[in-house]
Amino acid sequence: MCGIAGYIGKKQAAPIILDGLAKLEYRGYDSAGIAVFDGEKIHMEKAVGRLRVLDELTRHGASMPGFCGIGHTRWATHGCPSDTNAHPHMNRENTIAVVHNGIIENYDVLKARLEKKGYQFVSETDTEVLAHMLTEYYRGNPAEAIEKVMHRVEGSYALGIMFLDHPHHIYAARKDSPLIVGVSDTGKFIASDVPAILQYTRTVYYMENEEIVCLSNEHTRFYNIDGEPIEKEPVTVDWDIHAAEKGGYEHFMLKEIHEQPKAIRDTISPRIKENDIDLGELNLTDEEIKRLRKISIVACGSAYHTGVTGKYVIEDLARIPVETDLASEYRYRNPIYAPDSLVIIVSQSGETADSLAALRDAKAHGSKVLSIVNVVGSSIARESDAVLYTWAGPEISVATTKAYSCQLAVFYMLAMKFARIRGSITAEHFQTLLEALRRLPDQVEGLLSQKEKIQYFANHYLATEHIFFMGRGIDYAISLEGSLKLKEISYIHSEAYAAGELKHGTISLMEKGTLVVALATQDALYPKTVSNIVEVKTRGAFVMALTTLRHKDMEKCADYVLYIPETESPFMGSLAIIPLQLFAYYVALGRGLDVDKPRNLAKSVTVE
Ligand code: AGP
Repeated sequence: MCGIAGYIGKKQAAPIILDGLAKLEYRGYDSAGIAVFDGEKIHMEKAVGRLRVLDELTRHGASMPGFCGIGHTRWATHGCPSDTNAHPHMNRENTIAVVHNGIIENYDVLKARLEKKGYQFVSETDTEVLAHMLTEYYRGNPAEAIEKVMHRVEGSYALGIMFLDHPHHIYAARKDSPLIVGVSDTGKFIASDVPAILQYTRTVYYMENEEIVCLSNEHTRFYNIDGEPIEKEPVTVDWDIHAAEKGGYEHFMLKEIHEQPKAIRDTISPRIKENDIDLGELNLTDEEIKRLRKISIVACGSAYHTGVTGKYVIEDLARIPVETDLASEYRYRNPIYAPDSLVIIVSQSGETADSLAALRDAKAHGSKVLSIVNVVGSSIARESDAVLYTWAGPEISVATTKAYSCQLAVFYMLAMKFARIRGSITAEHFQTLLEALRRLPDQVEGLLSQKEKIQYFANHYLATEHIFFMGRGIDYAISLEGSLKLKEISYIHSEAYAAGELKHGTISLMEKGTLVVALATQDALYPKTVSNIVEVKTRGAFVMALTTLRHKDMEKCADYVLYIPETESPFMGSLAIIPLQLFAYYVALGRGLDVDKPRNLAKSVTVE
């Protein structure tokens, strides 16, 4: 996600801001910018690419004298990485500058209203809306203008704002995207995260949702969204810099597992409008969707696993035949490209060589390609006919978690949209699914509270040599991911099986104490899965089962039961995967391994 840094005080602002942004580089970004009041005007510089480009452009801030400024590293969500799309964004009069971390969900409506009033936009970003809204509402009191904007904006934001006729002040506001205020005897700071200011101060105010702050050399004033002053207590941060980069978590993987509720919410909320799902980015007409005769989902690793879930959900709801292929196999099997078919490429990085090659093969044969990607402007995104972005934010840990969960959410929305357009589900069923989709982020949040229980269980299997995962239907698809998570970070051999398939060979590997993780979240398949559990139990296996509280009888046949909340069957995978991610994490942690950078692996596999 983006990084914000701002400073006002006795020292030159630009070098402090650039150093602060450098400490936030771990968050991932694709462009950067800075604005400083130079005594006359708000001087702004922006540059696409690494922070080093902006640093060299401004000679580490030497070309931008001034004691008050804001800076930003941008992770693109709306609009590709470019100088123009980089933050800060200013109004036409260059009297207001704003940096933003988050997603303005209703920016298209707000932008249309502003354009009707004559405002001209220069960027593709949602953030620029804020610069013009502040102009629209500003009558000399910055806090009032900010409050009016906050009352009209939907979505998540952490904002840093400067007003030319209040040159010795910085304003900030926050809703759902983190923002902190730092104070020291040489100045005051705003930042997205502690690492940006740790070298200057450990006295920090954590801003809460819908709070505003006005910083000057003389005062630090907090307000609520209604302009009422509020009192806040500072906190002394005792983290070291490395812990701070991970938000206090021991590893990026654990941090990203905990970011999943927000990541899923950021991915679905902007697309749920008036009880419908808006997938305008699809570039498919209703007629084309009705004519669809086949979908091919092509990806690698965890992205492939979301495709297996996507197959079950799309076929179940939209009744469209779906094939899934490993990208490394796809183009060598001489696939059949038929008219009225769609190829979906799934990729977190958008740079996976095998997936990119599959995309090019499909395009070369005239197929329409839709991609589900987390990195805006990546190769796969750029070469696709249409892109459905996951808005998980940058994923640092090699083992994907939050991007995987967001890919699942995109497949749910795709399946629901196709099903509604093709009339294969009723309006009532669609609304039931929509309500369940809206509840997912909170249900994931609730599951994270089980982490101690999972860690306790994981610590009993640190020396295990083989662990099996099994399930039926979507439970099988999730088993694939649970198994991959475990083996890629703990180096324990693991296999995932369709539960009904074990008896066709692999069950010969079952012996006393073999750990089998059995997923039983699909009610329609529950009795069958229970019989598969009995099969492996009678051969000595120790079974950890994942099921819902509706099936307390599971305790009669499994050795250890983890309960997960209930949701609509097609979405159960998003809940079942959480304990499996945590299980893999705690096993790897217990084995003392480098969880974020497992041996032999890279975050993006750009070679075939
Ligand atoms: C997932 O934890 C692995 N790191 C790996 O399987 C990954 O999913 C695969 O390499 C595909 O990467 P992509 O999503 O960036 O294309």
